[in-house]
Amino acid sequence: MKQHSETHTGGDMSGLEAHLVERYKVWSGWGGFAYKHVKGRRLARIIGQTGSLEGRALEVGVGPGGVARAVSEAGLAVVGIDVSPDALVTARGHCTGTAVTLARASGFSLPFPDGSFDVVYGSQVLHLFAPKLRLALLTELGRVTRRSGRLLFDMKNVATHLMQYLTSTGVRRAAAYPSRQELVALMDRAGFDVIGRYPGVLPRLPSADVPDWLRSVAHTQFYVGRRR
Ligand SMILES: C[S@@+](CC[C@H](N)C(=O)[O-])C[C@H]1O[C@@H](n2cnc3c(N)ncnc32)[C@H](O)[C@@H]1O
Repeated sequence: MKQHSETHTGGDMSGLEAHLVERYKVWSGWGGFAYKHVKGRRLARIIGQTGSLEGRALEVGVGPGGVARAVSEAGLAVVGIDVSPDALVTARGHCTGTAVTLARASGFSLPFPDGSFDVVYGSQVLHLFAPKLRLALLTELGRVTRRSGRLLFDMKNVATHLMQYLTSTGVRRAAAYPSRQELVALMDRAGFDVIGRYPGVLPRLPSADVPDWLRSVAHTQFYVGRRR
């Protein structure tokens, strides 16, 4: 298989999306539904702690649907979108019998009216894109988020990806591991005030009920923003 860099720098969007659809075939083998479901429960807890679990949520890059399923079980009506038809087939299987609706769409051009969601979120999606595209994606997510609605996304935790981090080249490292300040500035430019950063899921501990201090070694870190 052709090797690609982890983070995209821009250029032709249809080419990029075709590339990501191919990449999904690799991603879909990783992680597994159970892990993503635990992660979704953790995300739902953070949504509840920082806002409300009522209303409509949009998940960008829904992948196999484990996160969407857990978030919908916590109370939100979730719309999950993805550019990958394969991902949507898998998600459909995982989300049967829940309040999750699935659609093929790109996060850069959402087929939804302004302000139509209470919560928008993405799990393991934002790191795929270079800063310019991250801003475009967050701005489009901001468009469909109602005023005072919430944005949540996660980024890799340098603590748990230390080897990857240390062995990355400067440019790739800067793109794949943005600093907290860079992300805060990006969220601000996209119209969100940052209201918190929360450690995410712990890969080897299935319970969502572990204390936050232990989560400093969590696989990812969730950023939470409020739409201005
Ligand atoms: C690493 S996977 C994460 C899947 C899922 N969120 C999870 O945590 O299990 C990234 C997902 O984002 C999707 N994706 C990539 N670019 C996208 C875009 N522009 N719009 C919507 N989905 C996209 C991919 O097809 C893939 O399903």
